[in-house]
Amino acid sequence: MNSTPPMLPGSPVVGNLLEFMKDRHGLLQRGFDSLGPVFGIRLLGQPVAFLIGPEYQQIFFTETDKKLSMHKSYAYLKAALGEVGFTAPPEVYFAQRPILLKPFKSERMIKYLGIMQLEVQQWLDTLGEQGELELRAAVTQVVQNVAAHALMGKDFRDSLGPEFWKLYLILGKAIDPALPPYLPLPKFIRRDRAKKKLREMIWPFVVERRAHPEQYDDFLLDFATATYKDGTPMEDDAVIATIMGLMFAGHETTAGQAAWTIIQLLQTPSYLQLLQQEIADRFPPGEALTAKNLSSMKHTFWAVQETTRMHPSADVLARRAEEDIQVGEYRIPKGWNLMVAADIAQRLPDLFQNPATYDPLRYAPGREEDRQHRFSLIGFGGGTHKCAGMNFANNEMMIITALLFQQFDLELITKDPRVDYGLGAARPEKTYIRYKRKSTNHASQASTTEATAEQKCPYATSKTED
Ligand code: HEM
Repeated sequence: MNSTPPMLPGSPVVGNLLEFMKDRHGLLQRGFDSLGPVFGIRLLGQPVAFLIGPEYQQIFFTETDKKLSMHKSYAYLKAALGEVGFTAPPEVYFAQRPILLKPFKSERMIKYLGIMQLEVQQWLDTLGEQGELELRAAVTQVVQNVAAHALMGKDFRDSLGPEFWKLYLILGKAIDPALPPYLPLPKFIRRDRAKKKLREMIWPFVVERRAHPEQYDDFLLDFATATYKDGTPMEDDAVIATIMGLMFAGHETTAGQAAWTIIQLLQTPSYLQLLQQEIADRFPPGEALTAKNLSSMKHTFWAVQETTRMHPSADVLARRAEEDIQVGEYRIPKGWNLMVAADIAQRLPDLFQNPATYDPLRYAPGREEDRQHRFSLIGFGGGTHKCAGMNFANNEMMIITALLFQQFDLELITKDPRVDYGLGAARPEKTYIRYKRKSTNHASQASTTEATAEQKCPYATSKTED
């Protein structure tokens, strides 16, 4: 029988927990450099095998729902959001999957583009001529408004107020991949109270859509009235958990990467110039940002993709071995957790030239470094459970970037922000920027945009259509 993976040394009681929480990248890079692509750590008593590199990542994604369980490893997400989608056992997930994917179809995506522009423009219109702002908080707020408006409807976005997002913040602070999620710790007690209140806030909107379905056309209507294949209505608990899950999946992750995109562009003036030229050519003042011109903005897309490579919000993904599994020369025993680490794997020098350099042109024709292996870029996961909201998020990050750089000159005050591993997403720490409005007046142009389904957008392809 083959041996188990080599382990990084750690404390006898907590293992590698403290470093995992504070400097995950440093810990995992050390594991990879000193022990190779398959190595182990301990989080409290739980052994975890890390698999780094596309061949091993392929095993991780293709064995999911077979030898590897997703819901057992994400018990901490189930504790925060409820049992739904991948936090539920596979038979439940596969029954719910068509319901979960329906709102992400490309014809629906086109409609969300208009909402994204409206929300981003409303934010930009509040900024005045010049000033300073904290980027992470500002982008989080705009992404929350997009999530509430597009996913839940305008009535929900307008009436829920700061209380709703304050409760979500409490959930986020209790997302802890290392500690058992039902320990009687204050943060878990606060989480359970917040979850209860959130469910109470969401429920009347579900009831309203069931009573007057003809008045709505949003994600929430889809879920409130969803039925399984055999015609049975989706359970109320599952409806609420789906909504909670999507609101969660859709905001901290996107906000983190959108903020990093802006930061990395400001740190890379040569590429920023290309991007600004593209915005001037494809999205001139006075024109609305339609699906058609968005789809032609390759430099903006590559900028967002390069940030996903270097600063993936979902920096580690987890599974639990349901039986012994062979990975390369090692045996991972039943009961171990397995993890992949996107921010280590996406910086492997044999796949990406000068991997520590922000270089969006690595995706341009002729280089296409992302095309070498199906599982080399895993910031949005892979296989059956690949992110359903990937195109939604990419479009949103592109729109934030394009509108912001179209209308403002920006400068980083916080020159080199570090990663903050909080709230279930690897976000930048607080980052201050200085802004000055450009002389051409763009205010509210985008607010009137009507994107039509005929304007096919390549970033609007849902995963069912891949
Ligand atoms: C930059 C933003 C985002 C990132 C980095 C991200 C990342 C991910 C990752 C890595 C997974 C797979 C998890 C795993 O395999 O363990 C995932 C799944 C998922 N994401 Fe996202 N996500 C983002 C935005 C969104 C948005 C905006 C939505 C919805 C509006 C969304 C909805 C989902 C759903 C429903 C799944 C589960 C798919 C399934 O199990 O079939 N995500 N996401």
